Amino acid sequence: MSQCKAYRASILHSVADPSEVGAEASYEYFEDGLLVVENGTVIDLGSAESLLSSLSPEVEVVHYADALITPGFVDTHIHYPQVGIIGSYGSQLLDWLETYTFPCEGEFADSQHASEQADLFLREMLRNGTTTALVFGTVHKQSMDAFFEQASKLNLRVIGGKVLMDRNAPDYLLDTAESGYADSKELIERWHGKGRLSYAVTPRFAPTSSAEQLELAGKLLKEFPGLYMHTHLSENRQEIEWVKELFPERGGYLDVYDHHGLIGERSVFAHCVHLRDDECQRLGDTGSAVAFCPTSNLFLGSGLLDLARLEEHGVRVGLGTDIGAGTSFSQLQSLNEAYKILQLQGQKLDPFKGLYLATLGGAKSLYLDYKIGNLKPGKEADFVVLDYNATPLVGDRLKRAQSLEEKLFALMILGDDRAVKETFSAGASVHQR
Ligand code: GUN
Ligand code: ZN
Repeated sequence: MSQCKAYRASILHSVADPSEVGAEASYEYFEDGLLVVENGTVIDLGSAESLLSSLSPEVEVVHYADALITPGFVDTHIHYPQVGIIGSYGSQLLDWLETYTFPCEGEFADSQHASEQADLFLREMLRNGTTTALVFGTVHKQSMDAFFEQASKLNLRVIGGKVLMDRNAPDYLLDTAESGYADSKELIERWHGKGRLSYAVTPRFAPTSSAEQLELAGKLLKEFPGLYMHTHLSENRQEIEWVKELFPERGGYLDVYDHHGLIGERSVFAHCVHLRDDECQRLGDTGSAVAFCPTSNLFLGSGLLDLARLEEHGVRVGLGTDIGAGTSFSQLQSLNEAYKILQLQGQKLDPFKGLYLATLGGAKSLYLDYKIGNLKPGKEADFVVLDYNATPLVGDRLKRAQSLEEKLFALMILGDDRAVKETFSAGASVHQR
């Protein structure tokens, strides 16, 4: 039996990149809008006035007052096993990994623990309105079985992978080049392309993989079509120096990945705060993407991402929370910090660009914009209902706003999980506040 339902509220979505077409042409907005969903797919979108008259009387219409429907948020870089170390004090990347991250990830050898954490993680993601994410597991293959198991129960469009790391970390977290390859292959065969799930080959970062391991990661990408590649790049100055020492024969950090066939479409590099111009160009030329992780880059003192420069080089950029170095699951909060990072460099982040980065831009970075990222008919119905009265403060501030732009900007600065009234994945309600 076909399942059709309609949602009435203000509705806003991106249709293009504001940096390319200007803010005004980058979005569609229906003050009193209607989103019609059938069997998990958007079948119509427009003003309530124009659509209600032709809607079959059997179709239930859910009306949200004082609310804004937007596409679900896309998180292009996050670690599900790091929920337990958010807000760990006092260090920068390499010290933070050793002191907090590795011990926490060690616990995921236990499948039961992994299942519980995956459940907590996914619920938190949905509470914050994120419906798609590109996710790191741990080195343990059972961490990704647990993750994919939980994500498939919720029918979420997510991408993830077991971490590859065969050196420069505690023994309890190491695989080998061969076991990492074999475990990844097993997971790919089990999960890649199953329902809405995809697999990402996930070398942690160049310092924790041998050249042999990176070579085998490249081999996997050649063997299975449609895989992602997900790693970290040029986040921290000490890290970059270390990569130079470990790979003196390579022309820099990006070249380590390039040499092993790890860059191209569906390759996503988190951070990229300290890239050289030629590295930006190479990312742009190859259709690779960068995950901009504002809360993490500030929290670990990593640096300020130069968005304008990446865009000049034609690089696809999405937004990542990078939990647990990042401090919030909320992409509204990522945008709040992104705005300040760009301010410090004399750049602006207008709210429509913010919306774009958190939705359609993220989807484009992941080459998923033909399925998600906005609410055009034919897209999968992943959307959120944002509450204009999320808190008394938000309610007061939004009442004073004179324009959509001002409302959206205030939401992006003040909003967080409390602003998310309901989250839908493929047309099904998966979180109600
Ligand atoms: N570089 C290598 N591993 C990590 C990690 O877990 N988090 C961050 N932010 N950077 C990394
Ligand atoms: Zn990360």
